[in-house]
Amino acid sequence: MSQQGITDELVFFVNGRKVREQNADPELMLLPYLRKTRILLLFKLTGTKYGCGGGGCGSCTVMISKYNAQEKKILHFSVNACLTPLCMLHGAAVTTVEGIGSTRTSIHPVQEYIAKAHGSQCGFCTPGMVMSMYTLLRNNPTPSMAQLQQCLAGNLCRCTGYRPIVDAFRAICTASNCCQRTGPEESCHLGKAEQDGILAESRDSDQLQVCSQLFKTDDLLPLDETQELIFPPELMLMEERREKRTFVFRGERMMWIVPANLEELLQLKSQYPKAPLVVGNTNIGPNMKFKGAVHPVIIHPAKVSELHSIQFTEEGLRLGAACSLGHVKDVLEKATAEFATEKTETFQALVEQLRVLGGEQIRNLASLGGNIVSGSPTSDLNPILAASKCVLELASKGGRREIHLDENFFAGFGKTSLRPEELLLSVFIPFSRKWQIVFAFRQASRRENAFSIVNAGMQVVFKDETNVVANLRMFFGGVGPTTVYAKRCSKELTNRSWDENLLNQACEMLLDDISLPDSAPGGSVKFRRTLTISFFYKFYLQVWQRLQQLLGKEDPFGVNIPERFRSATIPFSIKLPQGFQRLQKAVLDQFSWDAVGQPVMHLSAIKHATGEAVYCDDIPSQEGELFLALVTSTRAHAKIVSIDASEALHLPGVFDIITTQDIPGKKIDMEEILCGSEVTCVGHIICGIVADSQLHAKIAAAAVKIMYEDLEPLVLTLEDAIQHKSFYDHFKLENGDVDAAFEKADQQLEGQIHIGGQEHFYMETHGVLVTPKGEDGETEIVCSTQYPKFAQTLVADTLGIPSNRVTIRVKRIGGAFGGKVVIASRIAAIAAVAAHKTGRSVRCILERGEDMLISGGRHPVLGRYKVGYLTDGRIIAAEVTCYSNGGNEVDCSLVVMQEIVSKLDSGYYIPHVRLTGFVCKTNLPSNTAFRGFGQPQAIAITESWITDVATKCGLSAEKVREINLYRGQEACTPYKHVFDSRNQLTCWNECLQMASYHNRKISVEKFNNLNRWKKRGISIVPLRKGVGFSESTLNQAGALLHVYEDGSVLLTHGGTEMGQGLHTKILQIASHELKIPMSAIHLSETSTGMVPNTSPTAASSGTDLNGMAVKDACQTLLQRLQPFMQENPKGTWKDWVEEAFKNKVSLSTTGFFKGDDTVMDWEKGEGTTASYFVFGAACSEVEIDCLTGDHKNIRTDIVIDAGCSINPAVDIGQIEGAFTQGLGLFTMEELKYSPKGVLYTRGPTQYEIPAVCDIPEQLNVSLLPRSQNPKAIYSSKGIGEAAVLAGCSVFYAIKDAIAAARREIGLTGSFTLNSPSTPARIRMACIDQFTEMVRFQTVCLNPFHGPLLCERY
Ligand SMILES: Cc1cc2nc3c(=O)[nH]c(=O)nc-3n(C[C@H](O)[C@H](O)[C@H](O)COP(=O)(O)OP(=O)(O)OC[C@H]3O[C@@H](n4cnc5c(N)ncnc54)[C@H](O)[C@@H]3O)c2cc1C
Ligand code: FES
Ligand code: FES
Repeated sequence: MSQQGITDELVFFVNGRKVREQNADPELMLLPYLRKTRILLLFKLTGTKYGCGGGGCGSCTVMISKYNAQEKKILHFSVNACLTPLCMLHGAAVTTVEGIGSTRTSIHPVQEYIAKAHGSQCGFCTPGMVMSMYTLLRNNPTPSMAQLQQCLAGNLCRCTGYRPIVDAFRAICTASNCCQRTGPEESCHLGKAEQDGILAESRDSDQLQVCSQLFKTDDLLPLDETQELIFPPELMLMEERREKRTFVFRGERMMWIVPANLEELLQLKSQYPKAPLVVGNTNIGPNMKFKGAVHPVIIHPAKVSELHSIQFTEEGLRLGAACSLGHVKDVLEKATAEFATEKTETFQALVEQLRVLGGEQIRNLASLGGNIVSGSPTSDLNPILAASKCVLELASKGGRREIHLDENFFAGFGKTSLRPEELLLSVFIPFSRKWQIVFAFRQASRRENAFSIVNAGMQVVFKDETNVVANLRMFFGGVGPTTVYAKRCSKELTNRSWDENLLNQACEMLLDDISLPDSAPGGSVKFRRTLTISFFYKFYLQVWQRLQQLLGKEDPFGVNIPERFRSATIPFSIKLPQGFQRLQKAVLDQFSWDAVGQPVMHLSAIKHATGEAVYCDDIPSQEGELFLALVTSTRAHAKIVSIDASEALHLPGVFDIITTQDIPGKKIDMEEILCGSEVTCVGHIICGIVADSQLHAKIAAAAVKIMYEDLEPLVLTLEDAIQHKSFYDHFKLENGDVDAAFEKADQQLEGQIHIGGQEHFYMETHGVLVTPKGEDGETEIVCSTQYPKFAQTLVADTLGIPSNRVTIRVKRIGGAFGGKVVIASRIAAIAAVAAHKTGRSVRCILERGEDMLISGGRHPVLGRYKVGYLTDGRIIAAEVTCYSNGGNEVDCSLVVMQEIVSKLDSGYYIPHVRLTGFVCKTNLPSNTAFRGFGQPQAIAITESWITDVATKCGLSAEKVREINLYRGQEACTPYKHVFDSRNQLTCWNECLQMASYHNRKISVEKFNNLNRWKKRGISIVPLRKGVGFSESTLNQAGALLHVYEDGSVLLTHGGTEMGQGLHTKILQIASHELKIPMSAIHLSETSTGMVPNTSPTAASSGTDLNGMAVKDACQTLLQRLQPFMQENPKGTWKDWVEEAFKNKVSLSTTGFFKGDDTVMDWEKGEGTTASYFVFGAACSEVEIDCLTGDHKNIRTDIVIDAGCSINPAVDIGQIEGAFTQGLGLFTMEELKYSPKGVLYTRGPTQYEIPAVCDIPEQLNVSLLPRSQNPKAIYSSKGIGEAAVLAGCSVFYAIKDAIAAARREIGLTGSFTLNSPSTPARIRMACIDQFTEMVRFQTVCLNPFHGPLLCERY
């Protein structure tokens, strides 16, 4: 073995080129290597993106190919480059997005399809999506829809809502948009639309105006396998001649050893007992990255064939411990198809879990042995392996031994009974036999690619031909520090008959076995305990059904389970979303190149798909560039006693510390730039460290020692704030005579709802690159901000220089959603101070965890209400008081609260209202702007009392909604803003019709009558969203237009491109105005040097404002060209431009737009808060699993009044993306904090945003035809935010389903459901015998004939 010698050369291929790394650092992951290294002196490969660094988002997906010399097969698999150590790649070929196609050569069909199908908005996730799909196609050119579904499960997108991505890839798979399904339940969506009368209706009444095609497939390139990169023959030879020796790679702090064979591996393990055996690095990698673990020696057993073998024996299957989970899944799936069902019970249970464990990229890396030995309490495999008594073969230098994977194997959190020098060689899974039944269960916050909250593996063996239990073994995960054995229950139920008595006792005993204390880590104790017995109940039913099958009897052993209970055993299937999009056809008399009204592809879409689109951190580093790492507070409210950076400053590569003393100009703008003396939240920025690399800066930042003295009070929650009267301000609106109206009301009700906050989770984290120009304080800043002017002002003020020395440049942003309005500027200012102090360029890119910790998000809101109504459902009075959690700084919280208060009427006319909103000051990071700007919270509160009134009146919710809707041309809000509400009602009626609401409501009721443990719910809500800034000054925009002598046009304006397609629409406008093709116009970037005093790109007003400014510039220019056009009417654009130039006419002009005066007098409660309204309606249907709290989004129909859409593809993209964000807000995204104010949810594995599995199986969007809007350019409407509100229809559909579940036990009254409706909230609201058992630990259980909820309820 050569570990003592020199480091080996690492040989691998990247995009067909051979790479030889002499000094491969074992600490280095493939992602930073690709992005930051000039491989073979070529460009850095920045197409692969950093989104989270922990395997949770998929934006770093690349394909790895390896040659298997034994099987003579090339294997391709997708992996997360952020978790793949470089040293793992010896002998492998890496393909990145740049390797499959580019605009310089030719683009790959996968890239073309996703771009042209509008599957890319900000484009940050797109390379990862492309590579997942590309890998799938390399393995299988005609994949099934199930394979497509699985291939996308590990890739998150925050912009699109996935539907267009799926459509693009589905089109590649089927070469047609039609899914080809024909059965009555499964019929193709086109067929379904026909059936519902949607397409038929559109043909009859709007023949020329509506269509449903956003992209054409006939002109797209077909897949051509012969064009793919070939696997390097050299690597095949290398593998054939596999050198039988140990490889060693050494880095600064780590040594990576690849032993040649098992003998050497065992020798190494005895020599380095503490060295981990890294196989997939999916556990060790995140531990090193996020917890700072350091391992001086790592052993990578890639060459040890015994660890990779697969062997079937008479008794079962022996799997090498290093087999990847993906491979294990394939083997088990094949085996379940080949062997008799009774032999594969355990295999099937494992496959169930493996299908949803992580994403495909994780399963391709992670190993079976790694999953077992990591000893995670939420391992999805250990409970099944333990329940079915699998055998582990362990090996060490001293010999081999076999042990059962059972309760004795787990020794504590992350610990097993393996000896330090031992390794797990193989796992033996015995075949099951007749009368042996195994099932697996799991419930997570998201159905795919999310860790389980609770899981279980259960096995029962019956005495032959009886229902008498011979053996029962049940193991649970997520209910303690290890996988937990339900010992008493398993033991004491042996020899018992499988009947109701057993069920009752099992539940009681299980609650004893799984005794989570109320303070157990992870919280949700009641939910987790309820899940354990709910899982058992499911197991009970499933086993009973299996006994039915085994005996061929309806009532085996005299037990008959009602039909209504049986669907409890059917898991939710995951289907890819599909649906139709209905849009207005562009007017036919447009000149040929006029693109206004056309579904034009996003300008950068192809570059997104090829990885050529440049984001802030893709800009190559400059000579002497430094990296800034931020040091943030670990206390929520404390005095800073001291900052000690002495150790940090002596670490390698460190240049300096940046504190508030280094700020030459204003230290406080709205708030302190860097905290000087007091911190008011965990994550408050105290200082920064600049070093020569990101790694050095991070290590040094962690070494800065800060002493604190805690201060009182600690105000974290809204309840704390109310108690301490900790408010920034409050706003009130009153209309009518509220008290008198309450007197007149037939009835009154009171209630409250809590709407949780939301993290923006833009895929590109905050980033800034500051370059001091060296003269006169000139500073150039590339920044991912949606408010360049604010960044410019803040940097100038902080540096104490005039704004004219600071240029902010924004080419594109990888998503923003309101999160890059304010804090981006502060980060830019701190980096500018660092650049000023060091005289060097400074880059600061936040890691995902830092980004989530430092920046706030959407405001959590508590709404308390009192409503007076008539028995026919008319609401005549409402008094609503809201409290929002503003966090530690005021930011834009006051304006957000104004929006909440002024939009609490939602779409309803309530004659007498008193609406009040308090902005609470707390010790959490400051909350800020977020798509919808308070209106999503407002609608959710309003719909809560609407639903309560319906329940109390015994009316349907849609009836109460309908009779209270605003009506007529002169509707008037509580603040006396008169508006035309007719389109509101039109959208409502169209949505009812498009969704076949009334028919489906009957079907939902039928379903609910037939099913006890699954319930469906349906809900339709009206939407109304104000567009434009309520702060009047911001309603302005500028543009700059240059025409060059060759006729080409360079255009810019004040808006930023963050995925919403603004630049695309702007070019459509310019092309329309100038009457030249879009291709003749270029839009390079947004820059404060070109257009000054820009407003934030927000409030859905980007196109409204900047489009008008561009139109103004174009018209000015056209006027100048007019004489030449008249002189030469047959001339071309180029002719006229040349002539103008010769005649000394300026071909450069600015444009300006002065927008609406939105003035709101809060004293009087009168005025306007928006330029105009976008109307709409959304209808959603869901199904819930009452026993687990899981839910499935079945269908959503959205009708939106988008005016005359400038680009229907962009607008529909915005609608679907915003809806998906709203779906996340209201049903799944949950921020969790410690009691001391530390954010726990700091990455995609803790904070689940919607993935492809969460999109309604059918998602239909219709743009209201014939709609006009005199307030905006070409009669269009700003559509960026409105559909976030549509997410609330899913929440109320879930509430409707829960209400049906509660009616089963006679609970018919209204109830509180807080948002988001997580599995925990759904499960605990579906009160039944199991929830009550947990609550009281005693219960009179009669599961089949309705619960006896004892009188205590
Ligand atoms: C984003 C993400 C999502 C995930 N989702 C899930 C999920 O839904 N459900 C779930 O169950 N898990 C999930 N996991 C966990 C994942 O399954 C485990 O991390 C993985 O199985 C570990 O295998 P590995 O080869 O990557 O281990 P490594 O990180 O390489 O090693 C982990 C540990 O196991 C030890 N080890 C590995 N092999 C052996 C062996 N043969 N003998 C002795 N010791 C060994 C190592 O010494 C090390 O201590 C997820 C992980 C990530 C990153
Ligand atoms: S960056 Fe690798 S998975 Fe998110
Ligand atoms: S396009 Fe997917 S994250 Fe923006």
